[in-house]
Amino acid sequence: MAKVILFGEHSVVYGHPAVAVPLHNLHMTATVRPAAVVTAPSTLNCLDWHGPLDAAPAQLASVVEAVKVATGFAGHPDTGLHVTTQADFPPERGLGSSAAAAGAVIQAVLDAYGVPASPQQLFDLTQEAERIAHGHPSGLDALTTASLAPVYFRDGAGTALDMNLTAWIVIADSGAQGSTRETVGDVRRGYETSPEQVGALLDQLGAIAEGAAEDLRTGDVSALGEKMNDAHRLLAELGVSDDRLDAMTGAARDAGAVGAKLTGGGRGGCIIALARTGDDAARIAGSLTDAGASGTWIYAPHLEKAAP
Ligand code: MEV
Repeated sequence: MAKVILFGEHSVVYGHPAVAVPLHNLHMTATVRPAAVVTAPSTLNCLDWHGPLDAAPAQLASVVEAVKVATGFAGHPDTGLHVTTQADFPPERGLGSSAAAAGAVIQAVLDAYGVPASPQQLFDLTQEAERIAHGHPSGLDALTTASLAPVYFRDGAGTALDMNLTAWIVIADSGAQGSTRETVGDVRRGYETSPEQVGALLDQLGAIAEGAAEDLRTGDVSALGEKMNDAHRLLAELGVSDDRLDAMTGAARDAGAVGAKLTGGGRGGCIIALARTGDDAARIAGSLTDAGASGTWIYAPHLEKAAP
């Protein structure tokens, strides 16, 4: 399923904490069918690509790697498979499409061969696929897209996040693709060039995420909103926002959001905005559509909790 990072994107790569939630109504599914001839080349049907797995575009690298690591784990490397993925949410928008697709494909391959795996093994395999495809992922996406509950993540490991928030989170898609690989690489280069300056921004983002975990526990909507605004400003200073994301967070605040920030890798992708009521959330979502958002979703953590 999709995920949304509430706080801590980018700084999480440097060992700071992050908080993220799975979006249970935005699904990613994968089906795997062994080819009639075992030695036949594998095929992939994913997003706009229908063709040989080996020739899939770079954008689908995590799915390609997921097939490789899962068939290796299952003891059937180099076996012909027909792999199909289906998603309710767009790729390259900071919603975890790459990790969600890798995780779903790995599970489907293991199911096809009747090979069991523990949640830790599934996480490790997803991380392996993501690492080959994307460089140095923190593991936050791999964990949250496979999680049933909100996640507090730090140093490669997650714990359940105690969340008692009565508020609505509007997610709005800028419609522009973002490349996490690119923004993570740019932050890395910035950090190598100016460790003190960039390190200070990452420290502040980490401190905000740590404080936000406590606000989520106590349900302090005003404090969370303020932290969202601060985090967005710092992410912009880090160089991972863009005009569209700045305009959308501004439009959300003008429409009454308590706070707003970009979410995920940035420079394209989505923003999130915090609302006190369902009516506020609907109005903010409408304003974001007017401001050019290509899609909006509303997530209410307290209502998710009540769901079976
Ligand atoms: C991407 O969804 C989140 C980043 O923090 C990268 C990562 O955690 O690997 C930008």
